Amino acid sequence: MYVLGIETSCDETGVAIYHAKQGLINHILHSQVEMHSEYGGVVPELASRDHIRKLVPLIKQSLQESGLSSADINGIAYTAGPGLMGALLVGAATARSLAWAWDIPAVSVHHMEGHLLAPMLEENPPAFPFVALLISGGHTLLVKVEGIGHYQLLGESLDDAAGEAFDKTAKMLGLGYPGGPKLSALAEHGTPQIKFPRPMTDRPGLDFSFSGLKTFTLNAFNASELDPNKTEQNKANIAAGFQQAVAETLSIKCKRALQQTGLKRLVVAGGVSANQQIRTSLTEMTAKEQAQIYFPRLEFCTDNGAMIAYAGCQRLMVGQQQGLEIFARPRWPISELY
Ligand code: KG4
Ligand code: ZN
Repeated sequence: MYVLGIETSCDETGVAIYHAKQGLINHILHSQVEMHSEYGGVVPELASRDHIRKLVPLIKQSLQESGLSSADINGIAYTAGPGLMGALLVGAATARSLAWAWDIPAVSVHHMEGHLLAPMLEENPPAFPFVALLISGGHTLLVKVEGIGHYQLLGESLDDAAGEAFDKTAKMLGLGYPGGPKLSALAEHGTPQIKFPRPMTDRPGLDFSFSGLKTFTLNAFNASELDPNKTEQNKANIAAGFQQAVAETLSIKCKRALQQTGLKRLVVAGGVSANQQIRTSLTEMTAKEQAQIYFPRLEFCTDNGAMIAYAGCQRLMVGQQQGLEIFARPRWPISELY
């Protein structure tokens, strides 16, 4: 079974072809980063228009690169949410129309389920059950995963998502968009000089809150601005303090989730899982806990079509599919997914 995967939930147009037995055949990504960087963040209307321009040519290119024709495709998987409504509608309408024209099933995929299953594309995929930490621009979720579609929410962010905190903090430090990778690059040149808070780690529970950490960072930055000897080094030190605080907070909560569930496997996915310090901190924690850790390769941490094709393939194989409606749901709790 060949499945075409389509991802258009935010600022990347992702297309992939996944085969149920042979695995990933092809994937292509077009990033809109350059277009949005002029505005300091994602402009939803521009995102939708760019998906319209790029999606069909990318599908044609993916088929061509795979040596396949439309007649070889057995199903289409598309991101139906959560995400930007206009952007989701481009992928959903294109997927649904192509499936109708090619007389094959279409299945909607939850974007965070795509992230959660991304490590399954690697050579040594995790076995079920496991704990998943999903850290992206819009979500921070700790989930107990019993199998595909069996997700129990253990904890989530009560305010900013981890990626959002990176992006907003980067903006405050004048680093521009996309904030996460820029802040992370700057942090490499810094050393934390003051102790940043590890929010919500001194009380029980698995929820997160990053908004206070962001404010603490802003105050630290403003204080350093008053310093007549203020240098770029100060900024790097602040970035390093912020990043270390996020990495340690995530580690503390993941350790707690492993202990609480008694599970010994941790999956970490979503855009922020590309962050090297976070990867290192979680890897060290799991080693101490004698647990296994699984990450997607770097290019599948951030948004891509391959994870959507994989997730859709699993759902199509058990007979799931959508009717003829164009299904898009900008807000869609993962706990409502089966
Ligand atoms: O999963 P993703 O590509 O899109 C969403 O589903 O939101 O995640 C994007 C987020 C952005 O907030 C971006 O700044 C963050 O992931 N990100 C990073 C890094 N690379 C991407 N954050 C920290 N360090 C990175 N290296
Ligand atoms: Zn994402």
